[in-house]
Amino acid sequence: MTSLTNGIRIAPSVLAIDLARLADQVARALEGGADWLHVDVMDGRFVPNITFGANMIAALRKLTDKPIDAHLMVVEPEHYIEPFAAAGASVFTFHPEATVHVQRQLEAVKRRGMLAGLALNPGTPLTYAEEVVGDLDLLLIMTVNPGFGGQSYLPASNEKIQRAHALRTTHNARLFLEVDGGITAQTIGEAQQAGADTFVAGNAIFASGDPARDVRELRRRCMVTV
Ligand code: DX5
Ligand code: ZN
Repeated sequence: MTSLTNGIRIAPSVLAIDLARLADQVARALEGGADWLHVDVMDGRFVPNITFGANMIAALRKLTDKPIDAHLMVVEPEHYIEPFAAAGASVFTFHPEATVHVQRQLEAVKRRGMLAGLALNPGTPLTYAEEVVGDLDLLLIMTVNPGFGGQSYLPASNEKIQRAHALRTTHNARLFLEVDGGITAQTIGEAQQAGADTFVAGNAIFASGDPARDVRELRRRCMVTV
């Protein structure tokens, strides 16, 4: 199970992967030192795109025992806690904009043995997380508007990441501070300097065809930023 430790985590997003080469590309990314695998679950309602279900989690679980980080961009995410836990997800992150009972869902996720995460769209205030900061294992600051890979990092995100980091410090909350969207070798440093420690990257890892090299480069960029 994932432990709440310091350090840097690189989480390749399989949304950008060539699905015909899933096993091979995942193996390459893990060979390069990927810490987690990020799975973007979209239902065509919360976001204008449709992607994967629990079957993708089950397939990846056969390929690795590394943590699988499920990012639910769906309405009523509460319906998916059980199937995702059963499929082997390690982290279950949902959007407060998509459900009514946020605190109840966070508890339900943890009762089912997964780490509980909350993801905030760029336009969603940090106060949504402040109310439940003690219940969070992970806070995801979206650095693009969710729904697609390959978008550009929103520079205004840095200030929000800084406030999220301050929130974590003020409350002495043991949680991962994750960023997602437009994370590349050029943008990972500024996100890290703002306080993030867990970095999702899709196209920056799977678009070039050499995932191992690209995971290593992202980590190297973090090391030089510290
Ligand atoms: C977008 C997803 C991201 C996306 C990242 O809604 O949540 O995880 O796949 O892809 P890149 O790194 O290409 O922006
Ligand atoms: Zn994501």
